[in-house]
Amino acid sequence: MATTAVVPNPLREGMRMRKTPDPCAIVIFGASGDLTARKLVPALFSLDRGGMLPPTVAVIGCAKTPYSHEKFREAMAAAIHKYSPETVEDAAVTDFLRHFYYLTDNFSDVKAYKQLTDLLEKLDKEGVAQGNRLFYMATPPSQFPVIVSHLNSAGLAKPKDPGKTWTRIVVEKPFGRDLTSARQLNSAVLSVFSEDQVYRIDHYLGKETVQNLLVLRFANGIFEPIWNRRYIDHVEITVAEDIGIEGRGGYYEEAGLLRDMIQNHVMSVLSLVAMEPPASFEATQVRDEKAKVLRAIRPFDLDRLSEFAVRGQYLQGWVKGQSVPAYRAEPKVSPTSTTETYAALKFSVDNWRWAGVPFYVRSGKRLAKHISEIVIEFRRVPHMVFGKTWRDSVEPNIMSVRIQPNEGISVKFNAKFPATTMQIRPVKMEFRYADSFGVEAPGAYETLLLDCMLGDQTLFTREDAVEMAWELLTPLLERWQQDGAGGLAFYEAGTWGPAEADALLARDGRHWHRL
Ligand code: BG6
Repeated sequence: MATTAVVPNPLREGMRMRKTPDPCAIVIFGASGDLTARKLVPALFSLDRGGMLPPTVAVIGCAKTPYSHEKFREAMAAAIHKYSPETVEDAAVTDFLRHFYYLTDNFSDVKAYKQLTDLLEKLDKEGVAQGNRLFYMATPPSQFPVIVSHLNSAGLAKPKDPGKTWTRIVVEKPFGRDLTSARQLNSAVLSVFSEDQVYRIDHYLGKETVQNLLVLRFANGIFEPIWNRRYIDHVEITVAEDIGIEGRGGYYEEAGLLRDMIQNHVMSVLSLVAMEPPASFEATQVRDEKAKVLRAIRPFDLDRLSEFAVRGQYLQGWVKGQSVPAYRAEPKVSPTSTTETYAALKFSVDNWRWAGVPFYVRSGKRLAKHISEIVIEFRRVPHMVFGKTWRDSVEPNIMSVRIQPNEGISVKFNAKFPATTMQIRPVKMEFRYADSFGVEAPGAYETLLLDCMLGDQTLFTREDAVEMAWELLTPLLERWQQDGAGGLAFYEAGTWGPAEADALLARDGRHWHRL
């Protein structure tokens, strides 16, 4: 792995080789919320600038908050200026927003769908959307079933002209809050749409570095042969944030770290690290292999839970030189809350490839750094030829895949320190995206929105994977709920989490790698 820059502008070139999606209408339910302004519209704008959108795409915002078309366009223009990574000219933004519309209504009421249908028909007649429709559920999940059912009653769920036009639905997380609600949600959606119309978004799968895991594993001959229990000692996955709950106290009290981060993002990353090679990079095959991993994960032994799971909550502390409040002192959080803001878990994947290789995962808010990284620790050499003194002090080989920030991959190995005596020191080979390619990677939402429009489900979560992840985690959530404050470990904000998480690995003679 060298760090030399070689290919000019590979990401954009690669994307240009993709098909351009068909003209379509994107209908966003809950369009007055944060997600639309922060992520969806800036991502669409960026795709448009990159020439990746069809000549016409209409966006219809739907929500109760009263806006006119004009007001919505103004709000979206401000959002593009605020959240786009580059400076953009007003004229480009105005031109992009010319097919943006807004419908103020209560979409929990079937009557609201009349004006939506009329607008969609009008846009089809004008040739703007050409009958293709993407419904985006950016509302709280409690509203998904009712919206889906009204879309059905309004005759909007099926493709307008089957075989010629398409209709798809994007479902944002959380996909339920436990196994029962996830099943209910899936069955509500699937009673109206077929699975091939449903795109469950997990934005981690849209991150370049997460996709690169598959390229690292399956486009190189040198890693896959050692990617198993014979050579790998254990795997660590860390998704750490230094931010707190950012004013989302109400949501977070209901969710907690396990639901917010582990059930979706961390389990997706774990599946990609552990999956078998699919025969091709095609949706069904990739998703089959991911599902097999989830199926192979051993359920937690609730009688010995402390050997597998740690939950924590942050106390007052210091982050980037600023004093930050304890979780219990955050707005809309109960002063006696037992919601976890940190979790560390040990998973076992019971199959031939991974038997005996623990997967340790941890994630938390208000940790020491904002960093997501996968660490693969390889087994030590079976016999140390350099003498007994070196046996324990020579470090094992480590491969680190940095998901964010400073995206890249490094491999740590041992080298002889230049001296007349035998001295062994660890050194690193580094690949950094920024150095090697010199281009900005597309944002996760750009990749995923484009994939929805192109009808490529490879990076979206299938019904079975959602339910299997809940099946594993629901007993743990229920147990934590019963335990209340019992067993909740506290950590100071700005640290690496509770001491109990270190003890989880120390029990196995291991430690979390410094990131
Ligand atoms: C979201 C969670 O899904 O992911 C947030 O709801 C979290 O709580 C965010 O902050 C992290 O995403 P990223 O891309 O910043 O790592």
